[in-house]
Amino acid sequence: MIGVFDSGVGGLTVVKEIFKQLPQYQIIYFGDTARLPYGTKGEDFVQKYSVKITDWLIKNGAKVIVIACNTSSAWASDLLKKRFPNTPIFEMITPAVDDINNNHKFSKIGLIGTPGTIKSFAYQKRILKKNPNLKIIAQPCPLLVPLVEEGKVDGLVVQETCKEYLSVFDNENIDALILACTHYPLLKKTIEKIVGKNIKVINPAENLAKELKIFLKNNPKIEKQIKKGIDHQFFFSDEPYNFEKIKNLCFGKKFKKPIKILTGF
Ligand code: DGL
Repeated sequence: MIGVFDSGVGGLTVVKEIFKQLPQYQIIYFGDTARLPYGTKGEDFVQKYSVKITDWLIKNGAKVIVIACNTSSAWASDLLKKRFPNTPIFEMITPAVDDINNNHKFSKIGLIGTPGTIKSFAYQKRILKKNPNLKIIAQPCPLLVPLVEEGKVDGLVVQETCKEYLSVFDNENIDALILACTHYPLLKKTIEKIVGKNIKVINPAENLAKELKIFLKNNPKIEKQIKKGIDHQFFFSDEPYNFEKIKNLCFGKKFKKPIKILTGF
């Protein structure tokens, strides 16, 4: 199985991209709803639970891990790669950064994410390492996660909140905007309307799924170990608030899978 984890339900936007590009593989998903949000927590906390969840996913059949959470990717991906050297680990940041560095000629970009992701400087560091002249304007947007969790992806409150956060990019002439939080792709249409057509809005989940696809093609031994089929499993450490709404926004009403709660995880 492909093991996918997030702090909660936001990682379903990443699963959506995996389903699009890799529909044949079975997924085991873990959402740490008992401890959500990760975006306002510290590095040690996010690392501790990222290790615990990765270990659980591997013990429960995951042959590849996808960190479907930007905050966890920012704070914990290096540690996870060290702790679990025998399992390929994919995170949200590198595939998007590689695409920006290798395939585009941007001069100024915007970055929006949780306070943790922005503060970690993980995106900024990786971009500037290869592209030191690229200007990056970063803006934490903590209110967007609870709005999406409420199932609110358009309407007045969402528009006004997005407008306020995105106003830092007014008159800055950014070429692209990175949606560095798993919840934000659900706001993509609203965000695109505000920033305008000329700005490329980047969903890192698309880059991640593409990279995973290439990796599996080039590593047939690992690819063979991953279970195929649609018997996906969804685990949460507590009742996932508004799971149905978010699930429907990502996959539509027809997609029905039982969820399991691991109380005390
Ligand atoms: N999944 C988190 C991320 O992408 C957002 C939600 C949270 O703060 O836990 O950073």
